[in-house]
Amino acid sequence: MYRTNTCGELNLSNKGQQVTLAGWVQRSRDLGGMTFVDLRDRYGITQLAFNMENNAPLCEQARKLGREYVIQVTGTVIERSSKNTKIPTGEIEIEVTELKVLNAAKTPPFTIEDNSDGGDDLRMKYRYLDIRRNPVRKNLELRSRMAMLVRNYLSNQNFLEVETPFLIKSTPEGARDFVVPSRMNPGEFYALPQSPQQYKQLLMVAGIDRYFQIVRCFRDEDLRADRQPEFTQIDCEMSFVEQEDVLNMFEGMTNHLFKEVLGLEFDKFPRMTWHDAMRLYGSDKPDIRFGMQFVELNDVVKGHGFGLFDGAELVVGINAEGCAEYTRKQIDALTDFVKRPQVGAGGMVYVKYNADGTFKSSVDKFYDAEALKAIADKFGAKPGDLMLILCGPAMKTRTQLNALRLEMGNQLGLRNPDVFAPLWVVDFPLLEWDDETQRFYAMHHPFTAPKPEDEALIDDPSRWGEIRANAYDIVLNGTELGGGSIRIHDRNIQNKMFHMLGFTDEQAASQFGFLMDAFTYGAPPHAGLAYGFDRLCSLFGKADNIRDFIAFPKNNAGRDVMSGSPSPISDAQLDELMIDVRPIEK
Ligand code: AMO
Repeated sequence: MYRTNTCGELNLSNKGQQVTLAGWVQRSRDLGGMTFVDLRDRYGITQLAFNMENNAPLCEQARKLGREYVIQVTGTVIERSSKNTKIPTGEIEIEVTELKVLNAAKTPPFTIEDNSDGGDDLRMKYRYLDIRRNPVRKNLELRSRMAMLVRNYLSNQNFLEVETPFLIKSTPEGARDFVVPSRMNPGEFYALPQSPQQYKQLLMVAGIDRYFQIVRCFRDEDLRADRQPEFTQIDCEMSFVEQEDVLNMFEGMTNHLFKEVLGLEFDKFPRMTWHDAMRLYGSDKPDIRFGMQFVELNDVVKGHGFGLFDGAELVVGINAEGCAEYTRKQIDALTDFVKRPQVGAGGMVYVKYNADGTFKSSVDKFYDAEALKAIADKFGAKPGDLMLILCGPAMKTRTQLNALRLEMGNQLGLRNPDVFAPLWVVDFPLLEWDDETQRFYAMHHPFTAPKPEDEALIDDPSRWGEIRANAYDIVLNGTELGGGSIRIHDRNIQNKMFHMLGFTDEQAASQFGFLMDAFTYGAPPHAGLAYGFDRLCSLFGKADNIRDFIAFPKNNAGRDVMSGSPSPISDAQLDELMIDVRPIEK
């Protein structure tokens, strides 16, 4: 037997017991007469004591142990003279009588401690050492627990977990596919699924009724803190349901997780239409942990001779309460923030409502005290507040103001990771216009149903942009946690949808023919959604980056720096796959 106990479980109730432990040497301290070694495993740390007087050779052996050596010890549990109240095993130590080195270790390239001295890149390269650290291991424990809770919850609700294929047909909508060459079919490729969307709909046709899968998805898109090229979804689909049924089911599941993991309970999650979300927050995933809603100012700012405002489609701002004391330097920094290429605003106008009731603004030349008071009233501002205003084309300006609002939220400490504010965003537009390709794209995906009351608009191409979808997102703290929709099960509407997306009948048949065929054999009304599981874990774990919750993530360039992938493959492999790789001319 390698061990009788783990390194996290012994305490005074075990006093006097003979035990065997195994683990890694966290550190050792040589105090002359005594040598102490901290032995670590997944469960905790136990102090080992070696006494020179009792057993000099053993003590000598202990002194030679390096960091991260794998050892096994046998000894007696004794009470410590100087106790450590911070750890569960802190009242005892093991008086060691036998020590065996199971494996020596090179000195690790960074310290295996909660606050490691290793930078990001180094820790990613040696991820197996990084995972030995408590914070990373705890994240993986949280992830495992949450997956278990989801599985139990959904199975109790009669959901069936079904695996769908990873080698599938490439479909051109959505993000870019990762493709896999087929040796047996030279010149042909599989795609890795961006999501199991079509398969889960086929499972509804197949009568499965309630499906879920905690499943890996692959998207070849630019990476950010909340995006990985391979990530995991909690993917779900249900038959014979309306939007309300889906929202209730998954609000139930989300609440179950909140309660079990964080001890939080919520009433009904608020709901907001996509239109309101854009109007009030400039984002389809508003962070509603704080207010600072947008205020539209066209009717109070126009006609004062300020050309920028007069010519703008939208003048819109936020009120930063209590920030009138912001210095010139702070305001300049905010102006620089909105002018960064990532935000892209031309500039920012500020209006200070000073504590003494006077005003100071960057547009004093055009607006007298009375005009500034009218602006302040529109905001509902009080003395002591600072109003920040942007202008330009409506949607663009809203997006820019969203960035500024979130920045102010950060600066004012209003985005506390311990506070959770979930909401549903509903009634997304069905289609999104793309200037570059001059066509509409499905905002969610081509199988999303329009709202029945908007179906008539399909016959009027000039109003396609107004059609609302039966689509919904679950948003948590400004992150899109998941999204889904009611699916089209009526062939006629599906054909119209393909038509709006610019597909010819042949193109639709060649890309989605199998699904459309299946729908002719009795497709039930169905709907579903998918959560980003990595995002869910990172929010529950109160972290910013989903990488921390993935055992072996990719870096921002999509590389696995540990294994060195992606990497070239041999000429023999290329030949076998009939792939000709020519250098790209730049
Ligand atoms: P959607 O494309 O909105 O919907 O994806 C669902 C959720 O998956 C997460 N997500 C990601 N997480 C990490 N890295 C990524 N690159 C990434 N991309 C998406 C997000 C997102 O909300 N088939 C539909 C769902 C449905 O209609 O049922 C779908 O995939 O949290």
